[in-house]
Amino acid sequence: MSDDPLHLTARTGLPEDLRIGLTDFPRDRWHEPTTTEMARFWLGIHEGFRRHRLHMEAVIDHWRAGKTDVNGLHGRLIPAVQQFLQHLDAHHRIESGQYFPKFRTLDDRLAHGIDLLDRDHDVVHEQLETLFQKAVGFHQNLRSPDAADHAARLADTVFAMGPAVIRHLDDEEEIVIPLIQKHQIAG
Ligand SMILES: [Fe+2]
Ligand SMILES: [Fe+2]
Repeated sequence: MSDDPLHLTARTGLPEDLRIGLTDFPRDRWHEPTTTEMARFWLGIHEGFRRHRLHMEAVIDHWRAGKTDVNGLHGRLIPAVQQFLQHLDAHHRIESGQYFPKFRTLDDRLAHGIDLLDRDHDVVHEQLETLFQKAVGFHQNLRSPDAADHAARLADTVFAMGPAVIRHLDDEEEIVIPLIQKHQIAG
């Protein structure tokens, strides 16, 4: 466990010096029609991840409530986890490889914020790796007597990683959306 107070799994939000973009472009204005296409696209992608996470948790709740068996859980959860892994991994690769190097040069005061988001990606990536391993474990043991144990481990992993992913999405938006808007970044 890291002793960095800004570590993704430790912080409860961004420090004030990284929220300066919100003065000119607060969250409650992000839905206005003047918000750039790129900013709306970014927010839309993030909303998709939030919905996807809720969907996975709903599928698990359904099973935990006894409304479906491990086969039913497997049929719904494995494809959902697979898609989540692929999409989030691809999203982070584009951000870290393509956008963050550009964003880092836009405002000196926020450069260390971009670095923070980059480090978040490493934390999330480790969690995605664990999620992948648990999903493989469940899939490979579906016909074994301990299928339910493997299902429970995957379910616990899905719930455990949720808060960090959401924290990252929220914090990234508060740095990146005002930057995109202010500098009219268009992809
Ligand atoms: Fe990100
Ligand atoms: Fe993102």
